[in-house]
Amino acid sequence: MAESVALASGDKAERYRELAPQVAALVADEDDLIANLANVCAALRECLPIASWIGFYVRRGDELVLGPFQGKVACVRIAIGRGVCGAAAARKQTVVVEDVERFPGHIACDAGSRSEIVVPVVRDGELVAVLDVDSYELAAFDARDARGLEDIASIVAKLRW
Ligand code: SME
Repeated sequence: MAESVALASGDKAERYRELAPQVAALVADEDDLIANLANVCAALRECLPIASWIGFYVRRGDELVLGPFQGKVACVRIAIGRGVCGAAAARKQTVVVEDVERFPGHIACDAGSRSEIVVPVVRDGELVAVLDVDSYELAAFDARDARGLEDIASIVAKLRW
């Protein structure tokens, strides 16, 4: 296993391009899902200094349950369809929220959070988890993050679930 992540570029899109193969290497030889999800969060933190919280919610029936994350303690269970996470899960589509106060039903685990992106992790057509990233800055995330995080989510989807 690669035991570190090194990102040379200052450009966001380029950093994601550098990150993806390193994340793939990080999880390549390990079967334990929790360990892999935890390391993916840690790797993402190095790529995304603007993030206040990075983590997974794993699908359990019709709920999302808190998985490995980096950041403050967070709400544990989110019904599919609720909040930004639940919306991304229900639609199986990435949701980018520039201002959480303008997203009806946003779940404020951390009152300081201002913007958010949630990317679904879909395996063989089934939602298995979402990857949630929050920021204390407004409009911290854009299409480059969507693309980069979707690449990471597709690596995660191939793990042993
Ligand atoms: N804000 C999310 C809840 C999870 S926390 O951000 C960690 C939402 O609205 O689904």
